[in-house]
Formats: sequence, structure tokens, C-alpha cells
Amino acid sequence: MISVMNRIPVNPEFAQDFEERFKDRAALVDGMDGFVAFRLLRPTKPEDPYIVMTFWESQAHFEAWTQSDEFKEGHARAGRLPREAFLGHPKIEVMEIIQEAVAGQILGSAS
Ligand code: HEM
Repeated sequence: MISVMNRIPVNPEFAQDFEERFKDRAALVDGMDGFVAFRLLRPTKPEDPYIVMTFWESQAHFEAWTQSDEFKEGHARAGRLPREAFLGHPKIEVMEIIQEAVAGQILGSAS
């Protein structure tokens, strides 16, 4: 399994607008092949970036989503935020999940 995180530096004055975009998000990612989970993380320090965290069965599944109409549609309104809503460029990190623990569940390690 992999996690792809997109760190988005949002101008604190636009934090509410940014969050509004996600409230009625397209939810098309949820049905994609290989999709595992999505989390939107709000920074507790306003100067830190928001993180859009996704989990996928594989990098190929994630890449297929980024090239799909569902990705395009899921971001259709993102461009309507003004340029000053962002304080820099988003940073994308692709990570392999090598171990995990979830309360109440027994999980193994990935090789
Ligand atoms: C790099 C430029 C990107 C920006 C500025 C951006 C910003 C946004 C915004 C504002 C939305 C809310 C929906 C909308 O406004 O239409 C959204 C949706 C979303 N973004 Fe991005 N995004 C970018 C790329 C990515 C990437 C590379 C990922 C991979 C982790 C990602 C993950 C998501 C997910 C999972 C949703 C929800 C889509 C759905 O519900 O189907 N975004 N993004």
C-alpha cells in the first residue's frame, strides 16, 4: 500500500474558502479502483500547510486516478480559488507504507 500526500500551503485568510471546496467535494475518488482512504488534515498551526492524504493499493492505481476524468472533475472548482489563497506550490509525497497499527485490529508488516 502507498500513501500520497499533497501539502498545500493555504493563506490562513482563505482557510475557510479552501475547506468549503472540500465540503461538497465530488467524491469520485472514493469509487476508483485501488482507492483505500482519504483524509483532509487541517494544520493546528495556521502557518503550516493543509495535507490531503490518500491511501492506495499501489502507485499505479494512484497514477491511473490522476489521469482520469474523475480526477479532472474532482478538481474542477479548485482553480476558482484566487491566486492569493495559496502561499506557495503544493508538494506531493509518495510514500510506501511498511508498517501500521490500528486500535482494535491486528495488522502485519508489509514486506
Ligand atoms: C497540485 C495541485 C492541487 C491542488 C491545488 C489541489 C487542491 C484541491 C482542492 C481545492 C480540492 C477540492 C475540490 C475542488 O475544489 O474541486 C481538491 C480535491 C481533492 N484533491 Fe486535490 N489538489 C491538487 C492535486 C492533488 C493531488 C496530486 C492529490 C493526491 C493526493 C489530490 C487529492 C485530492 C482529493 C482526494 C480530492 C477529493 C476529490 C474527490 O472527492 O473526488 N489533489 N484538491
